[in-house]
Amino acid sequence: PLISTAELVRSARSDGRGVGAFNVITLEHAEAIVAGAEAAGAPVICQISENAVRFHRGSLGPLASATAAVAEAARVPVGLHLDHVTDEALLRRAGDFGFGSAMYDASALPHDENVAATRAAADWAHTQGLWLEAELGEIGGKDGVHAPGVRTDPDEARAFVAATGVDALAVAVGSSHAMTTRTAKLDHELIARLAQAVPVPLVLHGSTGVPDDELRRAAMGGMTKINIGTALNIAFTEAIRDFIAEDTHTVDPRAYLATARTRMAEAVEHLLRVLG
Ligand code: G3H
Ligand code: ZN
Repeated sequence: PLISTAELVRSARSDGRGVGAFNVITLEHAEAIVAGAEAAGAPVICQISENAVRFHRGSLGPLASATAAVAEAARVPVGLHLDHVTDEALLRRAGDFGFGSAMYDASALPHDENVAATRAAADWAHTQGLWLEAELGEIGGKDGVHAPGVRTDPDEARAFVAATGVDALAVAVGSSHAMTTRTAKLDHELIARLAQAVPVPLVLHGSTGVPDDELRRAAMGGMTKINIGTALNIAFTEAIRDFIAEDTHTVDPRAYLATARTRMAEAVEHLLRVLG
């Protein structure tokens, strides 16, 4: 069934584990994420990013409605989250389609503007009963430029949460978006200090680049929402590449989409087991 992100994150946090939040680009992603979560017997969050909306020619509705329908039919709890929103008009749609939460990403703005914009976004979200995530300390890689050295300062993080009223905070602790090798090294000492200093759950972005043992340690050390995107696309695309290399005559996309979806579901299942 479809469950609020707030509820999923609250129970993960009280159990001291992470909840996987996977990015949906196509219907097959939503189906694979739910299949993987069912196989692992774990709750999961499906998230649709502003970039994915852009890919669907600026329309949120078709993918969001389909993902919500897949979530409702799931045998495990599934949350629906709107990810990396910079566009105010898109944020205002977070109350539609069954989303329980959104990430408002003003991390590229100067600090004071990030605070003001995030405060306004959180105030609005709370009038709609939505859970709002924000980011402090820009986690690189979205534009292809990796900046694994960026760090979020614990005192600044505490002040940011107090000033904005956000429900969760994405922090820079050594990961970077869109890595295709699992070579990121997380700053576990900083994670411990952030978990002490910040009263709300912490979110790890760019988790694809983080090796399994580091991911598990981060989840147990206080990173509660674990965002994973690229890992699914690696599994999906590699499966299609393998299929097409072997088979030069099939034209029905269902043939290769089915194997790609299965490989993506296996990746989700594995990662959810790592998170505990
Ligand atoms: O918000 C989404 C995540 O941060 C995904 O990052 O594609 O590097 O796993 P990733
Ligand atoms: Zn992210």
